[in-house]
Amino acid sequence: MLSIRNVDKIYHSRGKPDVHAVRALDMEVKAGEIVALLGSSGCGKTSTLRMIAGFESVSAGSIALAQRPIHDLPPARRKVAMAFEGYSLYPPLTVRENIAFALKAQQLSRADIAQRVDGIARLVEIEDILDQHPRALSGGQQQRVSLARALVRDADLYLLDEPMGQLEPQLRAVLRGRIKGLLAERGMTAIFVTHDQTEASALADRIAVMEDGVLQQFAGERELKNRPANLFVASFIGEPPMNLLDMAVTPQEGGFRLSAGSDLAFQIPRQTLDAAARQALEQAERIKVGIRPQRIAVGSGEARLRVVSNQWLGDQSHIAGECAGHLLVAVTQGKVAARPGDIVPCTLEAHNLHIFGADGVCVRHAEAR
Ligand SMILES: Nc1ncnc2c1ncn2[C@@H]1O[C@H](COP(=O)(O)OP(=O)(O)OP(=O)(O)O)[C@@H](O)[C@H]1O
Ligand SMILES: [Mg+2]
Repeated sequence: MLSIRNVDKIYHSRGKPDVHAVRALDMEVKAGEIVALLGSSGCGKTSTLRMIAGFESVSAGSIALAQRPIHDLPPARRKVAMAFEGYSLYPPLTVRENIAFALKAQQLSRADIAQRVDGIARLVEIEDILDQHPRALSGGQQQRVSLARALVRDADLYLLDEPMGQLEPQLRAVLRGRIKGLLAERGMTAIFVTHDQTEASALADRIAVMEDGVLQQFAGERELKNRPANLFVASFIGEPPMNLLDMAVTPQEGGFRLSAGSDLAFQIPRQTLDAAARQALEQAERIKVGIRPQRIAVGSGEARLRVVSNQWLGDQSHIAGECAGHLLVAVTQGKVAARPGDIVPCTLEAHNLHIFGADGVCVRHAEAR
C-alpha cells in the first residue's frame, strides 16, 4: 500500500555540514495497517513523515501510495493527512474552522462538515473549545485539535507525529483506545511517531525502530522483544533494558564456553547454533551477550549478585547488582528481602542468552517463552 524504496534525506544548509537524516530507508506499510515509528530524538522520524507527506523532498529513492508514485507530487495531491509535531494550527481560525478547513476542499455540505467536526471533536474531547482560537489553548488542547484536523479528513494515509505527547497519562490511554477503534473501524492506514513503547505496543500492528537515520528492525512487539535484530534494538526495546555482558569465548568439545572472570560461565552447545552463530563464536575472543532482566531468577543458583539497589514498584521488584564485573538488573514478581551490600544468589541460564556478533547483529536469540 505504502512503499518506501531506498529513500535518503540529506539536509544541506549553507556554511554547515550536511546532515544525513535518513539513510536507504526501505519499508512497506500494508493497507489498513497501523505502524509506530520509534527511536531516539534526532533519528529521522519527522524527516521520514515529512517526505511521505511532501513537505520535504526525498534526496534519493521513491515513495508510492496505492501503486502511485507520490514523491514528486505536491502535498495536496498525495491524499495524505498529517498531524504535525508542532501542531501548525491556523491562528486566525477558530478550532472548528481549523478542523473543517481541509473538508471545505472536499465539497461536502455544511451539515456534513458540521457533523464530522462534531464527531471527531467528541472523540478527542475538545467539544467545549470549538469556538476558541488556537492562541487561547494549552499545548495539550492544541495537540488534540491538530490530531482532529488530520483524522477528520478522507485520506489514503494518516501520519501522526507524536500525536499524544502533551497529554496526561489517563487521557492518553483513553484516546489511544478510541483512536485505535476509529482507525480499525474505517480501515485507515496510519504511521505514528512516539517515544513511548507502551503506546507503540498498544496502538500499532508493527513497530519500526530507527536509529541514526537507519531502520533497525520493523516487526511486531513480540518479535522485537524475542528476536531483536541487533544490539541497538535489544537494548532499546524492553523495560528495564536488556542486560549486556562482555564475555570471553573458549571453543570446547561440543560447543563454546563463555565466561566473565571466574564468577560466571555458560556452556553453549554447538547444536543450538546456526552457521552464522558458530562463525561469530569461532572468530571472536570476546563477545557481547544479552539477558533480559525478567530472565534472571533471584533467590537461588550459582551466580552471586551484590545488591546495589532494590526497588519495589508495587507489582514487581527491580534489583540491581554487581555480578562478574557487570551491573545487572533482575526483575522479580514478588518482594525480595535484599539490601544494598547484600549478596544474593541468582540463576542465569544459557538458553536465555542473546548472542551478538562483532558487528552487533544478533546471531542467536534466547529461547522464546
Ligand atoms: N530542516 C532541517 N535542516 C537541517 N537539519 C535538519 C532539518 N530538519 C531536521 N534536521 C536534522 O535531521 C536529523 C533528524 O531530524 P528529525 O526531526 O527527523 O528527527 P526526529 O527523529 O523526528 O527527532 P525528535 O524525536 O527529536 O522529534 C536531526 O539531526 C536534525 O537536526
Ligand atoms: Mg520529530
